Amino acid sequence: TAQLHDLAKQAGLRYFGAATDTPGQRERAPYPESYEQYDAILNDASEFGQTTPTNGQKWLFAEPQPRLFNFTEGDYVADLAERGGKLLRCHALVWHSQLAPWVEETEWTPEELRGVIVRHIHGVAGYYKGRCHAWDVVNEALEEDGTYRKSVFYNVLGEEYIKLAFQTAAEVDPDAKLYYNDYGIERPDSVKTAGAVRLVQMLKDAGVRIDGVGMQAHLHADNHPTAEDLIATSEGYAALVDEVAFTELDVRIKMPANDTKLEWQKECYQKVVTACVKVKACVGITLWDFYDPFSWVPDVFPGNGASLVWFEDFTKHPAYDGMVETF
Ligand code: XIL
Repeated sequence: TAQLHDLAKQAGLRYFGAATDTPGQRERAPYPESYEQYDAILNDASEFGQTTPTNGQKWLFAEPQPRLFNFTEGDYVADLAERGGKLLRCHALVWHSQLAPWVEETEWTPEELRGVIVRHIHGVAGYYKGRCHAWDVVNEALEEDGTYRKSVFYNVLGEEYIKLAFQTAAEVDPDAKLYYNDYGIERPDSVKTAGAVRLVQMLKDAGVRIDGVGMQAHLHADNHPTAEDLIATSEGYAALVDEVAFTELDVRIKMPANDTKLEWQKECYQKVVTACVKVKACVGITLWDFYDPFSWVPDVFPGNGASLVWFEDFTKHPAYDGMVETF
């Protein structure tokens, strides 16, 4: 039977992929052999034609101390992508979370913080130059109400930091597609989606290059957007940028899972596939890992789980066949 990446390509997408973490961070491997089974699926080029490091390239790992760059974690996934002929989405240059503590603990002048951002992007995007299909240049810069998030970057520099990050990334790695990436920007009527549109427009008005909008798509089985919603939102971004992508897809279930909830989940995964196939600018879909025991969801949203497509015993959720049918 055909597999997800092959089907996605046939349907006109560039890729169907899965993000992954470094082995040291996959703390919840339920039994030792699960690594082998996991890697066999991850490395299957018909299943996943793209990958993203879920953690390794973040500031905390890539520049833990000022000017001290470390690419051990990021390289694990970048190398895996290269060996497997997978496209690499790189993630994330400027983000308030998993930021190295020194960035937040220092009282910066605007001039100093500009220097820190530019140096970080030169260090990290410069190191990976030519290897990233896309970079999430700025991640999660918006609050739920669509205003700018009050991060250290915003507090010191205002929206200027967003322009600076995109400008610098464009200089450092001109061939990478430069993305704004966020969660909760998948529905057309939300104030946060409106905020994302404003952010993109702000960059365009300033003459700063932005190529794509990434909708993280951390969705809920019991209350998910319709395909029409996802299409309308995607088309809204596509009016401003060349591409859109679903960059961190998972569909959480309020535990315990049962057949009904798995059916809602399947419908949600299918809607994302329908939308991406329908929208010309939609280049691909990335699962935020694919194996339930390695999902971030239970840690961060207690009582939720089973959000990915492979159960702990490596059988597949109904969502898998659902996506196969929809492609
Ligand atoms: C998550 C990782 O999956 C976890 O392992 C980590 O502990 C926290 O971050 N939005 C993003 C991702 O852009 O980087 C986040 O990844 C999930 C939410």
